[in-house]
Amino acid sequence: MYSILQMIHSYWAYLVLTMIVIASFNAITKYLSGKEFQAIDFRIALFTLIVTHIQLLIGLALYFVSPNGFKNISANGMSGLSSAARLLAVEHPFVGILAVTFITIGYSKHKKKLTSKPKFKVLAIFYTLGLLLVLSRIPWSNWF
Ligand code: HEM
Repeated sequence: MYSILQMIHSYWAYLVLTMIVIASFNAITKYLSGKEFQAIDFRIALFTLIVTHIQLLIGLALYFVSPNGFKNISANGMSGLSSAARLLAVEHPFVGILAVTFITIGYSKHKKKLTSKPKFKVLAIFYTLGLLLVLSRIPWSNWF
């Protein structure tokens, strides 16, 4: 179970990162160039929301089956974790949840705006913040 979830979480991360980059870039460039908000922009924002939520669910399940997640904290306590272990057990999951929260807020706020410019602005801010958070705490050395 653990290795299957770890593999899915690891491969799904490529799709998640690709979509957050595309959605942030799309919102920033169309905000700056004053483009009209169209169906494709809505689909990009929605698809990004969906893939990040799926990653959140896989991540939560992984957190409780992995020896590097909750089990590591229970076995060694917070103070017993090395910085590499803390990244996997605390920082990456916590910041991942925060990033998904930002993306969810951005998605729900953009839907309430009635015109193009404010829609792109909200998406640009919240999706880019989500992207920066995810990038700051990916366990790069485990991934590659
Ligand atoms: C939302 C964006 C997220 C991305 C892009 C992401 C990406 C990754 C990547 C690339 C790895 C390394 C995989 C490997 O070793 O090959 C990883 C590990 C891990 N992630 Fe995430 N993750 C995200 C969110 C989460 C969340 C929200 C949680 C838990 C609440 C979580 C829990 C974990 C755990 C526990 C590991 C370590 C698994 C192990 O090696 O035993 N992740 N993640």
